Amino acid sequence: MKRTLVITGGAGFIGSHVVRLFVNKYPDYHIINLDKLTYAGNLENLRDIEGMPNYEFVKMDICDFEAFLDLMQKKQVDGIIHLAAESHVDRSIKDPFTFARTNVMGTLSLLQAAKLYWESLPEKYEGKRFYHISTDEVYGALEMTHPEGITPPFTTAASSGSHHEAYGEAFFLETTKYNPHSPYSASKASSDHFVRAFHDTYGMPTIVTNCSNNYGPYQFPEKLIPLFINNIRLRKPLPVYGKGENVRDWLYVEDHARAIDCIFHKGKVAETYNIGGFNEWKNIDIIKVVIKTVDRLLGRTEGEDMNLITYVTDRAGHDMRYAIDSRKLQRELGWEPSLQFEEGIERTVRWYLDHQDWMERITSGEYEKYYESMYANR
Ligand code: NAD
Ligand code: DAU
Repeated sequence: MKRTLVITGGAGFIGSHVVRLFVNKYPDYHIINLDKLTYAGNLENLRDIEGMPNYEFVKMDICDFEAFLDLMQKKQVDGIIHLAAESHVDRSIKDPFTFARTNVMGTLSLLQAAKLYWESLPEKYEGKRFYHISTDEVYGALEMTHPEGITPPFTTAASSGSHHEAYGEAFFLETTKYNPHSPYSASKASSDHFVRAFHDTYGMPTIVTNCSNNYGPYQFPEKLIPLFINNIRLRKPLPVYGKGENVRDWLYVEDHARAIDCIFHKGKVAETYNIGGFNEWKNIDIIKVVIKTVDRLLGRTEGEDMNLITYVTDRAGHDMRYAIDSRKLQRELGWEPSLQFEEGIERTVRWYLDHQDWMERITSGEYEKYYESMYANR
């Protein structure tokens, strides 16, 4: 079946994995990667597929309503997978306006353009889909204890799966009330509400998914795992916020991309699906695993870089614990994570160590100049 899809934010971390998966898996689809190329967008992430006949890159700001409407009409777009966003919590604390602009107004702009175009067609919303990628952070923060007194984190599906039926709100469910704390999560929550409102008000076929922390290749090195891998390699301090006891639920990025593929094709309109791998870690524990892995792969004595751990002032409003219950997705659509964490983290560390040139181009700012000259005339 032929389709024309726009994937927004395809030059970013998760978006690049989604674009790669769709371009390779669906030769009959025309995949348009729409990205503004902010500091976080890097077309080098897609070097391996940029020459594919079913792939096109369009440099565009999602807030540019007229340009996006024009693109929808000219390319006859019938599906949107929306990942473009400002994504880093620490930046949102310093500059909340940029997050409201991109995440809220940008999403609204896409929705309104899609509505105008799709409603102008004879078949209207038939065969159309607006799929919005969101985060578990919109649900707020979970406690570190729960009614049965068992203490998270749970690091395997088995350890959590056998108990969490009884825990109720010890995990984020699709029905958990939104309670965002950071400007980033507040902006994502707002965009989620707009997406659902477009279904409820206009009948747009929307889907929202909320995923836990992703890790893997091509993540911008302001996020915990790539930042720390690089700092360990260079023997620079590792700034651990607060006591390092906050818990995050980690999913390998390619498993998220597979979930997005599955949900885009099989998910029910107007539904929400949580995506996660039942893989909770305290920050300090995952940091120790990363240190040992980097040390081993660099031929250093395992653990010799533990002294780089440096406790620093906590992030303002730092959410204590995130943990996703993704059983609905597993039960209804048959998705499950493919990778054990041990394998995922080994693969990830290896990738960053093998791609020091990629890292250095980003950290030196060289890549920005490259893209300016490369795409100035498009
Ligand atoms: P990222 O910061 O790596 O990439 C964001 C991409 O969006 C970049 O390519 C950037 O250039 C582009 N972009 C930003 N503003 C834009 C604009 N105004 N117009 C067009 N493009 C713009 O982000 P990521 O970590 O890959 O996250 C992608 C999406 O997934 C986001 O919506 C995020 O909220 C969500 N999410 C991320 C995680 C995670 O762990 N990283 C987890 C759950 C959900
Ligand atoms: O839960 C999903 C979210 O995960 C996504 O929606 C966000 O886009 C993504 O950035 C991520 O948010 P986090 O704030 O959890 O990720 P980050 O990598 O910034 O931080 C992970 C944890 O590590 C968090 O508890 C803060 C801590 N941390 C982070 C950095 C960058 C440190 O202790 N030191 C650091 O230098």
